[in-house]
Amino acid sequence: MDPLKGLILSGGKGTRLRPITHTSAKQLVPVANKPVLFYGIEAMAQAGIEDVGIIIAPETGAEIEAAAGEGSRFGVRITYIVQEEPLGLAHAVLTAEPYLGSSPFVMYLGDNLLQGGISELVADFREHAPDALILLTPVPDPENYGVAELAPPADAPRQTQSAGRVVRLVEKPAEPKTDLALVGVYMFTAAVHDAARAIAPSPRGELEITDAIQHLVDAGLRVEPHIVRGWWKDTGRLEDMLEANRLILDNVRERIEGELIDSQVDGRVVIEAGARLERSTVRGPAIVGAGARLSDCYVGPYTAIGEGCTIANAEVEHSILLSGCTVCDLDGRMESSLLGRNVSIRRGDRQPRAYRFMVGDNSDISIL
Ligand code: G1P
Repeated sequence: MDPLKGLILSGGKGTRLRPITHTSAKQLVPVANKPVLFYGIEAMAQAGIEDVGIIIAPETGAEIEAAAGEGSRFGVRITYIVQEEPLGLAHAVLTAEPYLGSSPFVMYLGDNLLQGGISELVADFREHAPDALILLTPVPDPENYGVAELAPPADAPRQTQSAGRVVRLVEKPAEPKTDLALVGVYMFTAAVHDAARAIAPSPRGELEITDAIQHLVDAGLRVEPHIVRGWWKDTGRLEDMLEANRLILDNVRERIEGELIDSQVDGRVVIEAGARLERSTVRGPAIVGAGARLSDCYVGPYTAIGEGCTIANAEVEHSILLSGCTVCDLDGRMESSLLGRNVSIRRGDRQPRAYRFMVGDNSDISIL
């Protein structure tokens, strides 16, 4: 068998994360101070995959290339593949066909996070050699995903975790038959290329990978379902981003490399080298990036403060701050917030007392 390759999809517009995605790719928004995309690349490396293709869009591709590089720091070789237009996940596979050739491959949506990585799944895929392996997980809102209907396993011993047999897959059905969503990690043999060529665009005008997999099922090929046991997050929206941040921070190991002056850290806290805290309290799980300056402030659980941020005389909790932000002299506590790069939030000193804003398109501000 040809060696397994990796394919990470890192195109798309990220409309649900605007305004952050007006200036940056959604896959580069950090979770616990690390771009979401990097978790996927690391999962590939951990599973022993050496060649990773990353699908990029013309608008954000250069930024993604600059961030991830040629891959040596992850222990993989990265090849960038431009998808000129976002015409769907199956279209992305076809775009990557010259790169993938006849190799089997793991496809990973670049804004997805999967607890525990993919090593076990890759091992299953190698051992059972199905034509495709899909991951499923129960969700409360299946209408927002590809949804699977399963039948009891006909050949139970061959199926992983006795998940059953795939009967039907429907992309974002108005009336889902089950609550089993397709997770954004898939394993394919080269059979998927013909399937992707055979399908027609969906109502949203995209070639859906869900339809391509259904095509494999209809052709009698073996599509193995695998129920995900740990957590999985598609980080497309703010709430998901904050939740992913919580889940990752829950597992950080305490590491204090910065400087603490009359300050206190409680629980699982990372203070990166070059960060300085004065008269401040950080209650974990939390991470404070390199070069950040915190004075007279409180940083609460589930907060990721990016590199070079300044927080003074303020309280921040359950939030993600990208690099270079300033938060000063707030009356109340800031929480459940996502600040883009170099955002500044402070109490003004001009009369009359009023809110003064300079915010980009699609920003969202909530004041009580
Ligand atoms: C895509 C797939 C969908 C899958 C989801 C997982 O949806 O089309 O089947 O369940 O990813 O994140 P999209 O993010 O394009 O809406």
